[in-house]
Amino acid sequence: MTTVANIVAKTVVELNQVTKEYPGGVAALRGVDLRIERGELLAIVGPSGSGKSTLLHIVGTLDRPTAGTVAIAGHDVAALSDRRLSALRARHIGFVFQSFHLVSGVTAQDNVAEGLLYSGLSRAERRKRAATALERVGLGDRMHHRPHELSGGQRQRVAIARAVVGEPDLLLADEPTGALDSASGEAVMRLLHDLNADGATIAVITHDGEIAGALPRQVRIRDGEVVEDTRAKPEDADTQPLESAGGEEQCHATD
Ligand SMILES: Nc1ncnc2c1ncn2[C@@H]1O[C@H](COP(=O)(O)OP(=O)(O)OP(=O)(O)O)[C@@H](O)[C@H]1O
Ligand SMILES: [Mg+2]
Repeated sequence: MTTVANIVAKTVVELNQVTKEYPGGVAALRGVDLRIERGELLAIVGPSGSGKSTLLHIVGTLDRPTAGTVAIAGHDVAALSDRRLSALRARHIGFVFQSFHLVSGVTAQDNVAEGLLYSGLSRAERRKRAATALERVGLGDRMHHRPHELSGGQRQRVAIARAVVGEPDLLLADEPTGALDSASGEAVMRLLHDLNADGATIAVITHDGEIAGALPRQVRIRDGEVVEDTRAKPEDADTQPLESAGGEEQCHATD
């Protein structure tokens, strides 16, 4: 069984009063507080244009806030240069996008191995780990297929394998089932649940209330503000393999 080895901090993400204004004056996020603890599986849900993708970009350090603070695994993002931020991102965060973002003409195995490009591992080791990750997502028999030889659901599973092959602290998925039929979408959500049960911390962005409702925590966003955060409830604790079960279970009702 794989372990998520490089986790140090209990709090993986901490946003304090984050605001994001785009040039032209759109305030896409307004005073967002969000904390994600190690081992959580949460949905960020809200209507189109509410700021979900903007939030994902900021949590994923692909973009910086206009105001407020962002800490990833205890690192204050504002204190890091772009270069160091890229390194932090490569080490700690995996991304899954709605439209897969696979490299065409390259096999599933090499697409997944690309997720380890900045790991310092040899090419042979990267490909070996890619093969293991593909087996993990049920595609051990599609290793040498190129994206156009895979179904949509299979492509998304390759993208998930690429995102988790480096065992990131945090997996961010933006509408991972948005381009899939319902059966493939369910398979992808089952896979995310399994990865979470194995220790991965996962935030799933969705506008689908049903998908959001099936996850242990929902953060509801509207017009750039968090309007509801159900936070992990104690009865969800058995779905979250934290080593220190019991003890200081935190249950802030943030609103
Ligand atoms: N690069 C940009 N420049 C200016 N405005 C932007 C930019 N990106 C997003 N916006 C605006 O910010 C707001 C939030 O956009 P965002 O993409 O975060 O929404 P979303 O919740 O992900 O929506 P959807 O469900 O449609 O993907 C929208 O009003 C959008 O028009
Ligand atoms: Mg979006």
